[in-house]
Amino acid sequence: MIRLATVPEVRTLVAEWRRASLRVALVPTMGALHGGHLSLVREAKRRASRVAVSIFVNPLQFGPNEDLARYPRDLEGDVAKCSAAGADAVFHPEPAELYPPGFDTSVEVARLAKGLCGERRPGHFRGVATVVTKLLVLFSPDVAVFGRKDYQQLKIVERLALDLGLPTEIVGAPIVREPDGLAMSSRNAYLSPEERRGAPCLREGLLAARRLFAAGERDVEKLREAILIPLAANGARMDYVELRDRDTLLPERTARATTIALVAAFIGRTRLIDNEILGGEMRVG
Ligand code: PAJ
Repeated sequence: MIRLATVPEVRTLVAEWRRASLRVALVPTMGALHGGHLSLVREAKRRASRVAVSIFVNPLQFGPNEDLARYPRDLEGDVAKCSAAGADAVFHPEPAELYPPGFDTSVEVARLAKGLCGERRPGHFRGVATVVTKLLVLFSPDVAVFGRKDYQQLKIVERLALDLGLPTEIVGAPIVREPDGLAMSSRNAYLSPEERRGAPCLREGLLAARRLFAAGERDVEKLREAILIPLAANGARMDYVELRDRDTLLPERTARATTIALVAAFIGRTRLIDNEILGGEMRVG
């Protein structure tokens, strides 16, 4: 597996792949890789003959009171995991490589970035959209794979690729979970053993809402309440619980099979997110 740290190195390698008419996939990450990330690498492998993984803790998407300084980092471990999952290249630039002195350009997806995490984390999605655009322009991949765990992010990336006319197909991959249902996340490492025991409550609430929906409940408030019960029972502090249209992310008045329930909650100081489509196919594991 090839390691790249600079923009010219990426350009040279991608040009080589292009000359050989190879189909190229990109998997953007911030490292501290877990099974969720690695499932994206494997999905990318199925869709392209060369897979690049970017590992970059993007300072632009962290707020002043967020966890940039203590975000988990393990470059050597990540490189080994990428290699084992079948990646062909890892791009791990220093911030100055992507943000030259005087950097002054950003990408903003206006409406989709407004509610949900966008409202709680001002500037977050501008940082995400900017770095993802830069990576998509740099690699110009045929396909880029993102996880549905960060559902609003996925919708924003789909939108910016369409709006900017980027030639990359954006693929959304299923959420990978721990055996007890907790969605895998680099931030799970922050949880104390006791917090970790209660952390599946986001998923429990979402499953309760799905069961109620399957039993015929269409009232958005009733479905929200079902999600809140396991959160409260486990001492989680709700950040938001919302029911939205899965394509537009606009609020729903009445729940439908295509409604997505999205949750963000603090377990101690750690903010976790999860989501489920109410009438979606059930995934195990
Ligand atoms: P990061 O949190 O490292 O996640 C990288 C990718 O892995 C994202 O597409 C995310 O949705 C996906 N992912 C994380 N946990 C997952 C899980 N349990 N199952 C499936 N996919 C999962 O998201 C970011 O980094 C950044 O915002 C980034 C897009 C790299 C831009 O900086």
